Amino acid sequence: MKGLGVLVSGQGTNLQALIDAQARGELGPAVLRVVVSNVPGAPALDRALRAGLPAVLVDHRPFGSDRAAFEEAVLDVLREHGVELVALAGFMRLLGPTFLAAFPDRVLNVHPSLLPAFPGMNAIRQALEHGVRITGCTIHLVDQGCDTGPILLQAAVPVLPDDDEATLAARVHAEEHRLYPQAVRLLAEGRIIRQGARARILAE
Ligand code: GAR
Repeated sequence: MKGLGVLVSGQGTNLQALIDAQARGELGPAVLRVVVSNVPGAPALDRALRAGLPAVLVDHRPFGSDRAAFEEAVLDVLREHGVELVALAGFMRLLGPTFLAAFPDRVLNVHPSLLPAFPGMNAIRQALEHGVRITGCTIHLVDQGCDTGPILLQAAVPVLPDDDEATLAARVHAEEHRLYPQAVRLLAEGRIIRQGARARILAE
């Protein structure tokens, strides 16, 4: 068993995908242990509670610019719940060395573009504004950059002529929800090996 902690800031549809995948037995040795939000009232917290998971708020605002102290507070919660692997699921804070040193190559992120295209905020809007014909989503290991860590899994999504942000987001999110449980399982099974800026996935 590998304890999994999920960090969220918003809707939590990727968290829900992980909850549902666990219920279907698709997370391998990973077991959801706790959900942490930095945003009070984030709908993701309700999803956690409905699934019977501990849902903890660690509001980043009282910490001001002291990112290390915020990260220590989150780490305390994760350690209390026996977390060994971390999945960022719409968690909209950059993580620094304090956090990443505690979980080296054990933090995943999901991003709604084919990285390295369109990192940062509003990736789906950026893709529409650039007129790309294909976008998608990426699951990657987290480093200190913004959406820059070694890429693990990607899925392509065509951009249709009549797409707006909502219609395109719906198709991108469906792919995120399909890929994220697979990535968690690979990490929990110890099949992700970092090699410099890249990651290798070991066969079963
Ligand atoms: C997801 O689309 C995720 O890829 C994106 O936030 C959304 C969260 O949705 N993350 C980023 O843009 C990270 N740079 P959710 O809260 O419903 O899972």
